[in-house]
Amino acid sequence: MNTTQLIGPFKQLISMAKLPLKGAITDEELLILEDAGIIVENGKIKKIGNFNALVKSEPEITVHELQGNHTCIPGLIDAHTHICFGGTRANDYAMRNAGKSYLEIAKSGGGIWDTVTQTRKASQKELVQRTTKLAQRHLKNGVTTIEVKSGYGLSVDEELKMLRAISETNQKVSADLIPTCLAAHMLPKDYTGTHSEYLNGIAKNLFPILKEEKLANRIDAFVEESAFSAAQITPYFKKAINLGFDITIHADQFSTSGSKAAVELGALSADHLEASTQEEINLLANSAVIATALPGASIGLGCAFTPARKILDAGGSLAIASDHNPGSAPMGDLLTQASILGTFEKLSNAEVLAGITFRAAAALNLKDRGQLTKGFLADFIVFHTNNYQEILYQQGNLKPCMVWKKGQLVYDKHKAKF
Ligand code: NIG
Ligand code: FE
Repeated sequence: MNTTQLIGPFKQLISMAKLPLKGAITDEELLILEDAGIIVENGKIKKIGNFNALVKSEPEITVHELQGNHTCIPGLIDAHTHICFGGTRANDYAMRNAGKSYLEIAKSGGGIWDTVTQTRKASQKELVQRTTKLAQRHLKNGVTTIEVKSGYGLSVDEELKMLRAISETNQKVSADLIPTCLAAHMLPKDYTGTHSEYLNGIAKNLFPILKEEKLANRIDAFVEESAFSAAQITPYFKKAINLGFDITIHADQFSTSGSKAAVELGALSADHLEASTQEEINLLANSAVIATALPGASIGLGCAFTPARKILDAGGSLAIASDHNPGSAPMGDLLTQASILGTFEKLSNAEVLAGITFRAAAALNLKDRGQLTKGFLADFIVFHTNNYQEILYQQGNLKPCMVWKKGQLVYDKHKAKF
């Protein structure tokens, strides 16, 4: 829609602009605009400034005027999810809490393979319905860009079903879904060849279709003892890079080696890192790889958090994502999880907000979002408060009252239809 309008006033507007991509950030570095307004045009930000001054400068403009206390921040970006899946793993959760480990459960028939079985049984239509529901829930919680992985199909046809379902869902929901192919999630139990043969088959038979049908521009792999080794995955990623895919790695979740591979291969991000030691932290910090913490997996598995403070202090870049999936991270509430990570890892408000806005955008190689700046997408969320500190202080309990996506009001708490 070709519209120009002014939205505001906001008691506070946190633009997340002019902040470093790497290293620690103090709250004093945040630019806080008071009594601010945003002019949007054709889905993008045209101007940000003092609300009254903007009204004066464009007296004819349509105004969406807000009453009361409101604070505005960029739309949240969740750079790592698995929200396309069939079935549930409530039984895994119960078994873990009864003392079994994630890897023990995987060996005894639960885990990722259980979700693969249930996802294969679901039709593309059923996957679209489920993914739509979850994407809408994320949107309502302020997430306007959601990365979504495949990885529960694990054959050319089943991975295609998942990625087509993600693409179809993307047409139906207001949030942008960024698809990632995770065919290298584990060696499928019904595959009779070796790890390398499986990966070669995927690269040969699936990668060209992903390009042809524009189903994904990103390739991910789970580098772990129970999945693929760094040596097995390197030729696979090299093929992906040669075809122009961006790469990202599930790294150092239970054992190290994934983050080193991420640095050597020039991945956009290394995600998880719960098992990273100072050696991996230094490697990441001295590279352009974004370290993505997944507190939802730590909360879901009851294990250590990613050493986020150490990563930032070493000079690394930290994104924070939900990892929303049926197994290790069933909660899926990014703001709650990011705020909790902040309390355990002693992160400033600015560092947490950076991790779910512009640093998450960098992890997805998206240059048009994550901060409120002229020319960027008009993706922003609004909270009923006059103090931005309340957002993380309430640990996810303060939900956005409005979500704007590309200049459109796509969620309004007072008129909520979903
Ligand atoms: O990011 N670690 C591997 N993959 C997912 C878990 C998927 C699952 O348990 O279904 C993760 O935690
Ligand atoms: Fe994951």
